[in-house]
Amino acid sequence: MVESPFKPEILRGKVALLTGGGSGIGYEISLQLGKHGASIAIMGRRKQVVDSAVSSLNSLGIPAIGFEGDVRKREDAIRVVESTFKHFGRLDILVNAAAGNFLVPSEDLSPNGFRTVMDIDSVGTFTMCHEALKYLKKGGLGKDPSTAGGTIINISATLHYTATWYQIHVSAAKAAVDSITRNLALEWGTDYDIRVNGIAPGPIGDTAGMSKLGLEGILSKAMEKMPLFKVGEKWDIAMAAVYLASDAGKYVNGTTLVVDGGEWLSKPRH
Ligand code: HXC
Repeated sequence: MVESPFKPEILRGKVALLTGGGSGIGYEISLQLGKHGASIAIMGRRKQVVDSAVSSLNSLGIPAIGFEGDVRKREDAIRVVESTFKHFGRLDILVNAAAGNFLVPSEDLSPNGFRTVMDIDSVGTFTMCHEALKYLKKGGLGKDPSTAGGTIINISATLHYTATWYQIHVSAAKAAVDSITRNLALEWGTDYDIRVNGIAPGPIGDTAGMSKLGLEGILSKAMEKMPLFKVGEKWDIAMAAVYLASDAGKYVNGTTLVVDGGEWLSKPRH
């Protein structure tokens, strides 16, 4: 990991709420948004994970607060966005990083298993966006930039660009997330000056996605065909988030930025 190429104050005064921000890629995004000046609110289902993430951030001098909550419950979403706004007095950045995943052949996946991942990844993302909207929309287009609308970053994947073994539920869920990103970018970008973008991570080391999907074992094989010949770091995803959340990305709206070293489009050399 190298030092951030961004100035440490580019998100000064901003407040970010991250679902799934207590562990894995979500935590690294919390950390890097915090290191670049943002105050951080973390929402997660596991209290211990959320508490420990908050103390780690606090120990680095980053203002942070945690809320136990499940993105599948609308009342949790409402409570957490409201509490974040009450605590910090504003909300500028929403990062939807909460996700569910397991590896299962389609014939063994129950409709309820499929629905569970859709509920977490797709409906959960929409619910959080929906409940955060009234806090994210402030000035709107043409107004003072300091009161302009906030921004949303949805964590996606590259699984659904092609087809991925035993990931029908996650592929469908992330395809829906990408659609949510584009549609909200159109509607809320036009009406409220809110930018909505996504990040699609490739294989990132030391994450639940990698270990749950058993990808660690096939890393060396994947590396043979990858243009950049390496697995990514959580830091790579967090830097994309800092870029999109900051004014560096002020003209970027409705895109899902693939951060995978070119992995998804790679084919073996022949
Ligand atoms: C088959 C399964 C299953 C499994 C659950 N189900 N696990 N089916 N194989 N391994 C089915 C259950 O049988 C049930 O259906 C339904 O799913 C709901 O299961 P619950 O256990 O009641 O759900 P819940 O306790 O809410 O847990 C949700 C979860 C869980 C998704 C199943 O694993 C989870 O929340 N994990 C979160 C953390 C996580 O995985 N994060 C990493 C995301 S990585 P029935 O029909 O029996 O009722 C990521 C990266 C993607 O997203 C890209 C990678 C490259």
